[in-house]
Amino acid sequence: MYEGRIINILHKDNVKITNGYTLNESIRMELKSRFTDSNVHEIISKVLDSDLEDIGKRVEPINLNIKNILVTGGAGFIGSFLVRKLVISYPEFNIVVVDKLDYCGSLNNLKMIKGMPNYSFIKGDITSSDFMTFILKEKKIDTIYHLAAQTHVDNSFGDSFEFTKNNILGTHVLLEAAKVHNIKRFIHVSTDEVYGEVAKTSPDCHEESILAPSNPYSATKAAAECLVKAYHKSFGLPIIITRSNNIYGPYQYPEKICSKFICSLIRGGKCYIHGDGSNSRKYLYVGDLINALDLILHLGHIGEIYNIGTNFEISNLDLAKIFLQQFNISERDQHNYLEFVQDRPFNDRRYSVDYTKLKELGWKPKVSWEDGIKKTIAWYKKNCDKWWGDISNALVPHPLKTLPQSLDDYNYL
Ligand SMILES: NC(=O)c1ccc[n+]([C@@H]2O[C@H](COP(=O)([O-])OP(=O)(O)OC[C@H]3O[C@@H](n4cnc5c(N)ncnc54)[C@H](O)[C@@H]3O)[C@@H](O)[C@H]2O)c1
Repeated sequence: MYEGRIINILHKDNVKITNGYTLNESIRMELKSRFTDSNVHEIISKVLDSDLEDIGKRVEPINLNIKNILVTGGAGFIGSFLVRKLVISYPEFNIVVVDKLDYCGSLNNLKMIKGMPNYSFIKGDITSSDFMTFILKEKKIDTIYHLAAQTHVDNSFGDSFEFTKNNILGTHVLLEAAKVHNIKRFIHVSTDEVYGEVAKTSPDCHEESILAPSNPYSATKAAAECLVKAYHKSFGLPIIITRSNNIYGPYQYPEKICSKFICSLIRGGKCYIHGDGSNSRKYLYVGDLINALDLILHLGHIGEIYNIGTNFEISNLDLAKIFLQQFNISERDQHNYLEFVQDRPFNDRRYSVDYTKLKELGWKPKVSWEDGIKKTIAWYKKNCDKWWGDISNALVPHPLKTLPQSLDDYNYL
């Protein structure tokens, strides 16, 4: 129906391009043309232009071996971006989300796709073996994207057992269920933090570099990776591991540095700087990460690890100053909005990965820091006060979740 009109969807600016349609109108029509159901057309009509840009293009030709995809942690920041893309771009896939809806996950992240025939959400915990075995069987899952995890480094300095439970035991349970159910692809989403800190004078980490995690969060992610690799070697489970830079963008619970600084400034609060603020990080826009995860599903090689990186690097202090500028706070007033606080027990100076292998697969980051951050700030200005309920606990300098009183809660250990 729309054939011939839908061209040039790689065109960057959302101006009238072909036959009077803007880029977003063209993408929207193309998406609708993949579904016949008029209810779905209505859902797609309501997708915001900014979300549409992030959903972007799909990988062609699609991998026909895949039918039913499980996304763990799909109500979280990255998981929900991935789910929205897969559901809207690939009507031929059924997407099943399992998420326990921890403090950082929200069904608001998925409301855009509510009612889509190829999407279902199940509230549940990946650490339950019976539950995961049941889901894989019942939903005939053939592919898994595993993202569910405890993800906040600050919390891991407090209640670190939660990290061991969710990140290591949770992954182990899922691997065992996947082994029994003959899964075709198990994509394990890990982090560049498993390499530990990388000095400016050292080369970037490549996929075979030694893992040297330095905080409880990254240690549990590295341990989970060891299990994933062991299931590949021992049982031939078809795994792929990804390790990415820091990710930023809309829909992220405001405990991580970008979303936290933005939400604090929206509320007239401060940016709390750990230590002297000289530690630096690289930042990748979430839409670019999702494109990488999509590409890896279709073209990634079984048994391989892929770093997902970017060259944009900035210190924590300079990052805060950029946000102050974005909020029109003059240099003279900056000291009112910056506060130096005690550093983390250990704070990696920087991370840096070599992502040549993924570039060779055809991926590169497309969203510039300037564009990504504008979009992110605009989203939080509209949503930060209503999306997750009360976020004030997340905005304190060190949001530490502490160990419970009794270790009885940890009888799984
Ligand atoms: N955000 C980043 O900068 C970044 C960078 C590299 C890698 N990663 C990895 O990407 C993945 C997703 O990160 P995110 O930033 O979207 O995290 P997030 O904290 O926003 O979301 C995690 C989700 O997992 C769910 N979850 C946690 N434990 C669970 C369990 N036991 N059972 C079911 N659901 C559970 C939570 O409810 C939440 O919805 C994680 O594995 C993380 O290690 C994140």
